[in-house]
Amino acid sequence: MTKQDILTDLDKINDLPTLPVAAFKFNQMVAEGTASMKEISIALGQDQAIVLKILKMANSAFFGLRKKVENLQHAVVILGINTVRNAVLSLSVVDCFKAGGKENTGDAMSLWKHSLAVAVTGQYLSQQTKVSTPDDCFVGGLLHDVGKLVLLQYFPQTMDSVRQAMAEKPASFLMAERELTNANHAVIGGALAKKWRLPEGLLGVIKNHHTMSSSSVDMDRLKVVHAANIIVNGYLGDYLGRKWPLSTHPSVEALMKKRLNTVDIWFPEIEPHIQEACSFFLEE
Ligand SMILES: [Fe+2]
Ligand SMILES: [Fe+2]
Repeated sequence: MTKQDILTDLDKINDLPTLPVAAFKFNQMVAEGTASMKEISIALGQDQAIVLKILKMANSAFFGLRKKVENLQHAVVILGINTVRNAVLSLSVVDCFKAGGKENTGDAMSLWKHSLAVAVTGQYLSQQTKVSTPDDCFVGGLLHDVGKLVLLQYFPQTMDSVRQAMAEKPASFLMAERELTNANHAVIGGALAKKWRLPEGLLGVIKNHHTMSSSSVDMDRLKVVHAANIIVNGYLGDYLGRKWPLSTHPSVEALMKKRLNTVDIWFPEIEPHIQEACSFFLEE
């Protein structure tokens, strides 16, 4: 059997999810760093649905702010432009996949739950270890497996074969997909992130969360998300609910040994936060 050339096929797909125009423009303006705060707020203000969600998020338990955030400019002042940018990316990516979702909605839901668990775990690890920044790690965790959503929505047969191979061997998702395609979900996610012109550090997390390539722009964030992913797979189980031993890249092991050794103690404590994030993002 020849391996499916997913990257070539991906290029031919015309209806790949796109970021909402306002979110895309906002992201570009922040990246270029030349626009004023007012100009940036006006750009995002073109999409009132996103603005409302940002305000809802800013006023939720998620950020735990004491003051009420009244408008977008206020949110930028209180939370900072990078946090708002991460929030915009998080909310718009979840939305654009939800809007285009046509296949296996149950599977998509379990992928989002996994991603949100990695996001919250990454945020916690970053807070505790002071490595990277918590909201960069949140968005990194949320999007690390975005390539799996592409597989699910655009290559459902491949996804089925991966699932079957995982159950038969048993193999991990990565092992199973390596046998079936020339790419893997990390490479596919990286290609999508490039199309969306996501920030380089975020692209590096998506593309390298399994390989831990040392050429990544934001190694600290990559290490945190890598650890969070392994912890979630070990604690909550993988795609098929199987639990895997906690085996992280050596550089990560050295960085957060204590957290890795005490996961049984702290993970149950953050589970309610994972639930909260799921209800917020997935509106359960
Ligand atoms: Fe992954
Ligand atoms: Fe993952």
